[in-house]
Formats: sequence, structure tokens, C-alpha cells
Amino acid sequence: MPGHARHDTALIHGLSATEVQTLSEACIEAKSKAYCPYSNFHVGCAVLLSGGAVVTGANVENAAYPVGTCAERVTIATAVCQNGAKAGDFRAIAVATDISPPASPCGMCRQFIREFCDPSTPILMYDKEGKYTVMTLEQLLPMSFGPDKLLSTEELAKGASK
Ligand code: THU
Repeated sequence: MPGHARHDTALIHGLSATEVQTLSEACIEAKSKAYCPYSNFHVGCAVLLSGGAVVTGANVENAAYPVGTCAERVTIATAVCQNGAKAGDFRAIAVATDISPPASPCGMCRQFIREFCDPSTPILMYDKEGKYTVMTLEQLLPMSFGPDKLLSTEELAKGASK
């Protein structure tokens, strides 16, 4: 199917076949944890951290619709709070939904991911059959605005400008 990468494609993003397999199982399993009574659109996410840990999450909706949170942001926030993950610690992000072709992270999530991930970070997107498409963050969010664009706290204290 066009747009569906073969399973060994992610190797060029620095992931082993085993890591891809682990990510795929983790994000597909995480889909079952979604709290999505309003959309019934289940999204699971898994991130691979540089120490080898895999952290998962799912979308969590709310009766006040805009308050709901996407799986990607739930997962990254969990990795930050539970695993102490920092910018640069994320080797890959995997997202699973029940549609084909697979869903890609929403615009807000792409920006949220950008805070913690290098533009070269692979984002694996799984469809309802467990097949994936992989793209880098840079491909999904070109010319992105990241933390490097802002002054550091030291520069701010000195009243410097970029
Ligand atoms: N959703 C995600 O969790 N991730 C995405 O990348 C796209 C959308 C969720 C939000 C909401 O709970 C449901 O999917 C329908 O938009």
C-alpha cells in the first residue's frame, strides 16, 4: 500500500528490528487504555527513551471536549514526570489508531513533541492492521519553532537579545 513503509525502514532511523517490534506492541496495547467515550477514536502511544525504557499512554477525553488530551501528550508528559525524561532523551515515538492509512499526530502534538525531540526523531504511525508508516519530526513539522529559538534564562537575566 502506498505510504506504508516496510518494517526494516526504521533501521535507518537508528532503531533495531527488536526496538521497532517493542514499540509496535506497546503502542497497539496502549490503544486499549484510551478513555474516549465521546469520539470512540482510540489512540495509543509509546516512546522509546535513550536508557531503553518504553513509556506508554493513550488519549483521555473530557465532557468539556477541548479539555481532552491526545495520546502523544499524555505519553510524553508521563515520560517526563515518571522517568525524568529530558529533551534529547526520546529515540522514537510510536502512535497507533484503528484507521488505515494511519493517523499522524495532530498539529498541537507535533509542537509538543518538538519541545523534547530532535527534528530527526522517527515517528512511527500504525494503522488498524498494525502496519506502519514512518516519518521524521522534521518531515511532519518543517521549519519548526523550538526551545533553541528563545533566549536562555542566563541571557534573559542579562537582558541580551538574539
Ligand atoms: N487524538 C490523539 O490522541 N492523537 C492524535 O494524534 C490525533 C487525535 C485523539 C484526540 C481525541 O481524543 C480523539 O483522538 C479524536 O480526535
